[in-house]
Amino acid sequence: MVAVGHGRDPRSRRAVERFAARWTAGLDRDGVHREVARTVDWPAEAASWLRPARRLTETAVDAWVIADTPAGWARMSERLRESTAWAPGRTVAFSGLDSAEIAASAAQGGLDGLVGATATGGLWFVEGSRLRRHVPKAPERAGHTLFPRDPVEIAPGAVHIPDWLDLDLQRRLVEACREWSKGPAPMRHTALPRGGQMSIQTVCLGWHWTPYRYTRTAIDQGGEPVTPFPDWLADLGRRAVADAYGDPAEATAYRPDAALINFYDESARLGMHQDKDERCGAPVVSLSIGDACTFRFGNTLDRGAPYTDVELRSGDLFVFGGPSRFAYHGVIRGTRPETGDPATGLDHGRLNLTLRETGLCSTAAVVTVP
Ligand code: SIN
Ligand code: MN
Repeated sequence: MVAVGHGRDPRSRRAVERFAARWTAGLDRDGVHREVARTVDWPAEAASWLRPARRLTETAVDAWVIADTPAGWARMSERLRESTAWAPGRTVAFSGLDSAEIAASAAQGGLDGLVGATATGGLWFVEGSRLRRHVPKAPERAGHTLFPRDPVEIAPGAVHIPDWLDLDLQRRLVEACREWSKGPAPMRHTALPRGGQMSIQTVCLGWHWTPYRYTRTAIDQGGEPVTPFPDWLADLGRRAVADAYGDPAEATAYRPDAALINFYDESARLGMHQDKDERCGAPVVSLSIGDACTFRFGNTLDRGAPYTDVELRSGDLFVFGGPSRFAYHGVIRGTRPETGDPATGLDHGRLNLTLRETGLCSTAAVVTVP
């Protein structure tokens, strides 16, 4: 039996909701009674930390599970240590606490035994008032299924939210992509300006993209019209921005008007590039369905390091905006066959939808010459 404590920021809330759902789904499995005895939350700034600290510790539990921002947790853990019978050695934390602040609190003592996850599947723990890390080797990492994959800010403004699309929505998107890919301008391997073609297949909504511009018609496909960008997809984009940034104003202002829908078979790749044909700094919303891939997210200067490799699986959301809007990114290795769930309606390959704001006028400007 565990007690769960969390800050009120969206990331911590989501982390504990997902944890509680998985934990209780395994109720009584292996003779372990998996119950959440209580859930206590607290604001990032509080007049008194004593009340939530007492509430979190007043029921006898086997362990505590914590999700918080480093600033909130610094205050809360201080109060727990000073005023309650809390035992850090029976506490596990989500990766949101994996920060320089936790090292500083560890150095002050009283946190020995506290253990937490890192964003990349490793562990950190406090021993002898020092923060230590354990980075498991790949096969070991694959076995970590107790904790759901956490949302992670890969770089400022670049947020990965695993499992954001539920199965129904993935199914609906797969069906819609099948329809869109029929045309009028059907899905195709885009021709490259210096000859050859892209290994991915693409169909566009709203605006037609060819290297390296947007046009109103499919200029490389006989001038066919482009399938309109549907309102429901724009609404989905706004929800994605809201969840990634926790900023309702930014989400409401988001007006995606173009989508590139890419299909990857096993051999398809996408080299490191910037999305820079838009005349607007609004975020790019990326949705993945089907087989998993390694998505390399780099820096804004060049194609090289530093970069982070992120596994994008079916249902994952990745949003990049703000300081990361023009970062280089790509799918540098082939997708991993048979890692998708055929229940999405896609029995092989990977679909990726990127929603963008082009910053281009929706109708041609009318200029009146006096
Ligand atoms: C893109 O960069 O346009 C697509 C990225 C992806 O397939 O995840
Ligand atoms: Mn791109």
